[in-house]
Amino acid sequence: MNSGKWIVLLGAPGCGKGTQSELLVNSDFSFKVICVGDILRENLQTVVPQLGKTVGEIIGNGTLLPDAVIVDFVKNAMAKIDDFLNTNLIFDGFPRTLGQAEALLTMTKALGHKISHVINFEIDDDVLVKRITGRSKCKDCGKIYNDYFSKPKISGVCDICGCKEFVRRSDDNETALNKRLSEYYSKTQPLIEFYKNLNLLYSVKADTDTSIVYKNVTEILSR
Ligand code: AP5
Ligand code: MG
Repeated sequence: MNSGKWIVLLGAPGCGKGTQSELLVNSDFSFKVICVGDILRENLQTVVPQLGKTVGEIIGNGTLLPDAVIVDFVKNAMAKIDDFLNTNLIFDGFPRTLGQAEALLTMTKALGHKISHVINFEIDDDVLVKRITGRSKCKDCGKIYNDYFSKPKISGVCDICGCKEFVRRSDDNETALNKRLSEYYSKTQPLIEFYKNLNLLYSVKADTDTSIVYKNVTEILSR
């Protein structure tokens, strides 16, 4: 049947891919998410032979991992989802290079499936600094917060689960962000043209209220 809606969230670090994924998971679409960044953070000690470094060292510097490694992680994550062909699926942060985009195209064709929408989040670099350096996450339930834009209602207590512990990412500092941005512009931004040519690209202004971004995303997905 292959009826699952498969979408790609594309955009610079901090543009809101994770925030919008979280909302879409809890929406009527009942999406499941393959977030490559999260998968990598679960595998920090794994050594990447091509680079002779651990996953943790590579993402801590803000550098992209080799395509072959990423494609393997994505294939494994898909295989773990029950009935994935009929599941609504978000690819958050994948693909990020033309090589990964070609691999995804080959993979979906082989499965008799396709990506239906690529949502490109548009945002200026200067907004991203506060988004990244202010971000924290509930240690228990993973709810994302921001010191500047979206604090918990009660200071230090997660709105969702009441946990009092929050974590910050090792790459959420200005030095790593600069590297992540240069990787984005040189390797990921060309995907905008790639998906435009496939008639799959939809752009959304990401520098507005989270709920407005979400409304615009769901409108696109309902078309
Ligand atoms: P990854 O974890 O995917 O990081 P990223 O792309 O840099 O994106 P982020 O997760 O930092 O930001 P986001 O867009 O999810 O924003 P969020 O919603 O959290 O990847 C990490 C690393 O893994 C990469 O650098 C690379 O090394 C490696 N990697 C991953 N994928 C790879 C691949 N395919 N190939 C090779 N290597 C790969 O929001 C950010 C903040 O802003 C939050 O605090 C949030 O509360 C706030 N916020 C969100 N929306 C709004 C809004 N509308 N208004 C105000 N605040 C908002
Ligand atoms: Mg994210």
